[in-house]
Amino acid sequence: MARHLITSAIPYINGIKHLGNLVGSQLPADLYARYLRQRGHEVLFLCATDEHGTPAELAAAKAGKPVAEYCAEMWQVQSDLADGFRLSFDHFGRSSSPQNHRLTQHFAKVLDEAGLIREVTEQQMYSPTEGRFLPDRYIEGTCPNCGFDSARGDQCDNCTKQLDPVDLINPHSSVSGATDLEMRETKHLHLRQSQMKAQLEEWIDTREGWPVLTTSIAKKWLTDGDGLQDRGITRDLDWGVAVQRGDDPWPGMEGKVFYVWFDAPIEYIACAQEWVDAEKGSDWQRWWRTDKGAGDVTYTQFMGKDNVPFHTLSFPATILGSGEPWKLVDYIKSFNYLNYDGGQFSTSRGRGVFMDQALEILPPDYWRWWLLSHVPETSDSEFTWENFQQSVNKDLADVLGNFASRVTKFCRSKFGETVPEAGTQGPEEARLIATLTEKLREYEAHMEAIEIRKSAAALRAIWVLGNEYLQDAAPWSTFKEDPDRAAMQIRLALNLIRFYAVISAPFIPDASGQLLEAMKAENADWPEDVETALGALPGGHAFTVPEVTFRKITDAEREDWQTRFAGVRS
Ligand code: MF3
Ligand code: ZN
Repeated sequence: MARHLITSAIPYINGIKHLGNLVGSQLPADLYARYLRQRGHEVLFLCATDEHGTPAELAAAKAGKPVAEYCAEMWQVQSDLADGFRLSFDHFGRSSSPQNHRLTQHFAKVLDEAGLIREVTEQQMYSPTEGRFLPDRYIEGTCPNCGFDSARGDQCDNCTKQLDPVDLINPHSSVSGATDLEMRETKHLHLRQSQMKAQLEEWIDTREGWPVLTTSIAKKWLTDGDGLQDRGITRDLDWGVAVQRGDDPWPGMEGKVFYVWFDAPIEYIACAQEWVDAEKGSDWQRWWRTDKGAGDVTYTQFMGKDNVPFHTLSFPATILGSGEPWKLVDYIKSFNYLNYDGGQFSTSRGRGVFMDQALEILPPDYWRWWLLSHVPETSDSEFTWENFQQSVNKDLADVLGNFASRVTKFCRSKFGETVPEAGTQGPEEARLIATLTEKLREYEAHMEAIEIRKSAAALRAIWVLGNEYLQDAAPWSTFKEDPDRAAMQIRLALNLIRFYAVISAPFIPDASGQLLEAMKAENADWPEDVETALGALPGGHAFTVPEVTFRKITDAEREDWQTRFAGVRS
């Protein structure tokens, strides 16, 4: 038994996430966590909301709510949706927690003591009306390049040109509309990442077996001209972690907060503290401090490819730079993007399916299965309704669901609702067990390697083997000449249902639970030995016929959903 720390990239607080977000970190992380727990490992699986930064402030303003209230509400919404998708976090924290405030301020202090923080004097737009410095994206004006009249201080959304707020014609504050903006001198903190280039390079180079997607992005950032520059870690916002050196004030930094990308990954650690403070665990240091027992923890992070630079360089710079014995990540699993029906998912345009809508139309297992078996692992992948319908109807309804239903109903009608006792297995059964063993070991190896598509394919193949066996054995005809043989075949098939329920649980936990309950299975242990596992339900064991495990998606539904989710969320 090993110890595994697993984190999923923490989703931004501003709004409900779409299925592309879900499949890019939380869902695969959940698959892995569930699998490792089932194999008897000790797992701590953490996620949280990413609550700071301009997007949170702007979304709150748009919703007409104080930002703290908005975040608290959206945390609840996201937490409920996570439950709806059966994401089995040990704790779902908040980057705005007091624990994260303290820890972020602590890291700033130790990084400063290590000489890795520099105070930099900059010119920045100040609004006397609002009495504050304005972040670049809070300033609007006319684009000097294309004439678009609501270009932002950092970029023009019309012509995509990167801008400086001073470039804008008629600049004004997008918060208050104030036009009396002036450049003033202000100080910011920069993290001297450039000082750590060699150390980070060495660390990346010695990571063995990391996915190519992860290391190629990291290396590109390390070696490109603007790769590992010092970066500003403070911002002029009200909402966020106040810039302090530990508990002490930081002279000259009054009214400033840390940049969201500085405090967000620190939440991975703070989240473990929140987990303890919520009385769900008793020792967070055992997971995070190598001097306190975390030395034998394997730490795996899950994220979309856009997050890779922050996790391979910025966060490790924070950890390594601190000089303290914090646990570093052991393996980074990153993902490409999921597209939606010939284009991109779009949060702003409401294009695609969002987590709340998905659960309104179908239960979580339908989505989990499709998303995980089509996860954008080696390249971008695409959600289409045709493909979704086909996968659900074939894999889930025809192959798995139908197997369970046929076998239990046949048994009920011929032998009653108990596992029949008669008959002994022959060479066909021995062959099936041998093939199943081979496939199961393959499935386990893929799950251990977090090769998700390969895992799904192996699992599907295992389901198919049962169907093929049933087709060949044909107990409905055997029953006429040799009822004992039919009994043995059905006993095996009933055991296969339990076996499927156990090994499919990481992908489709609800269906797994339903089937285990129908089979009245007392033991849901991972099958170490297939033959033994297929004897778990002995003759005489009572069961019930399950309700429909998976239903089919009709063409009419498919067409309806296709139009409904084409854009502009109501
Ligand atoms: N909120 C970011 C996103 O959704 C992810 C932050 S991950 C962490 O892209 F490292 F900051 F925690
Ligand atoms: Zn422009």
